[in-house]
Amino acid sequence: MASSALIRFFLFASLLFSASFFEIYAEEAEAKEFVVTLDNSNFSDVVSKHNFIVVEFYAPWCGHCKNLAPEYEKAASVLSSHDPPITLAKVDANEESNRELATQFEIRGFPTIKILRNGGKSSQDYKGPRDADGIVDYLKKQSGPASAEIKSAEDANNLIKNVFIVGIFPKFSGEEFDSFNALAEKLRSDYDFGHTLDAKLLPRGETSVSGPVVRLFKPFDEQFVDFKDFDPAKLEKFIEASSIPIVTEFNNDPSNHVYLSKFFSSSNDKAMLFLNYTTDAADSLKSKYREVAEQYKGEGISFLIGDSESSQAALNYFGLKEDQVPVLLVQKNDRFKYVKFNVEADQIAPWVKDYMNGNVPQFIKSEPIPESNNEPVKVVVADSIQDVVYKSGKNVLLEFYSPWCGHCKKLAPTLDEVAVSYESDPDVIIAKFDATANDIADGDFEVQGYPTLYFRSASGKLVEYNGDRSKEDIINFIETNRDKTAEADTKPEDTESKPKESKPDSEAKDEL
Ligand SMILES: *[C@@H]1O[C@H](CO)[C@@H](O)[C@H](O)[C@H]1NC(C)=O
Ligand SMILES: *[C@@H]1O[C@H](CO)[C@@H](O)[C@H](O)[C@H]1NC(C)=O
Repeated sequence: MASSALIRFFLFASLLFSASFFEIYAEEAEAKEFVVTLDNSNFSDVVSKHNFIVVEFYAPWCGHCKNLAPEYEKAASVLSSHDPPITLAKVDANEESNRELATQFEIRGFPTIKILRNGGKSSQDYKGPRDADGIVDYLKKQSGPASAEIKSAEDANNLIKNVFIVGIFPKFSGEEFDSFNALAEKLRSDYDFGHTLDAKLLPRGETSVSGPVVRLFKPFDEQFVDFKDFDPAKLEKFIEASSIPIVTEFNNDPSNHVYLSKFFSSSNDKAMLFLNYTTDAADSLKSKYREVAEQYKGEGISFLIGDSESSQAALNYFGLKEDQVPVLLVQKNDRFKYVKFNVEADQIAPWVKDYMNGNVPQFIKSEPIPESNNEPVKVVVADSIQDVVYKSGKNVLLEFYSPWCGHCKKLAPTLDEVAVSYESDPDVIIAKFDATANDIADGDFEVQGYPTLYFRSASGKLVEYNGDRSKEDIINFIETNRDKTAEADTKPEDTESKPKESKPDSEAKDEL
């Protein structure tokens, strides 16, 4: 690219000319943006011309986007002189005219970075680091072949780090080889792959293996494990199951982060044991737990262990208290929860067995149902949500909130006013639900941040409220969505409301 040649020239010139001369031009060189701006008018045109292009979807108000910008720009400048050059682009997804692009790429949060290949025919999430060096390394790897050939022991040493998957083949062709490559391409943003003709080059290599076989290296448990079935679905499942530790440790060691995120993003049921590591019982709890984890390997359940001393945040998240530790719980589908408080080492195996057999009842955390509930905004808890929201036959506006959420506090007086104005209407209930002290056991409510407002009409129609948080708009919304009685039907349609364009979630909601 001409621009990078220019920079190299200035770098060279800096040796020849005075410092000030160089600085002037260096500034100019810096003023050039390497990140390409795209919008709906030229997106497809530009993308279709690239075999590999990276696109950041951002919003001007998003803080993480602002932090990323200089790093992304720096990476773009470095990668512009990569061979072949790698283009980094950005799209302001907040811009009305670009919304369609954001929808097309299913952008749910900012920033989201996509890697587009083959002129945009395939797209993949960017899952790399957010600093310039990290972005450069990750993208260099992503733009190369999905699986790197291992030709020497040195190659093997350089490549095989953390979890690494190697295909060992007698020749680089055939069904197994193709199947391996296709899977490497599919999973390349999550795993690193290599292939070789010579198993001896690999760490702990043996001469007897000639393949075809897939060997997954990992820095934990049995260190490596082989798999000989090249059926794509089975191979993918094997990789997913083998690349997380038998028991994932809950801590904030950065090198452990990748395993934690795998644990939490897995679709498996998630068993978690929190215990005080410094008590006498710790060792036997740990070893019994590990035995159970080994026993259920590959059966759709993953295991995590954490020291209650350093897992306060997790305990709070699950609403658990010190005196309930050691506590064993299973989270299923992010919604159903099963809990054994004050578990003893010998109870772990039978309890997990009961759970696997469907014999442990679901645990739903609830505050007590309030004895008096006389404020305008009614208090709903997990144990009363059925009665108040589902079976009352009323129109209910329900706020899911957390006690420390700023946006919730701001909304509270408005919600009070709305409730006061409905006090004489027996068909409408305005209610609130402390989602930190109560489990949302019902699948109907999708709560990703606080506050989240849902309206359930008397006949059971459920709508999330995303409008302006003003008394007028909320009342209009209730009037629009409530089940109208014969009398209400005759009302003029002046209450019809079009919710204003809602602000993006991350701005108007506190994170969970
Ligand atoms: C795409 O269009 C926008 C707005 O017209 C412009 O700012 C941007 O530079 C264009 N990008 C390219 C690569 O042409
Ligand atoms: C953990 O156990 C130790 C030793 O029994 C005790 O001193 C400590 O307070 C315990 N920590 C918690 C969080 O219970």
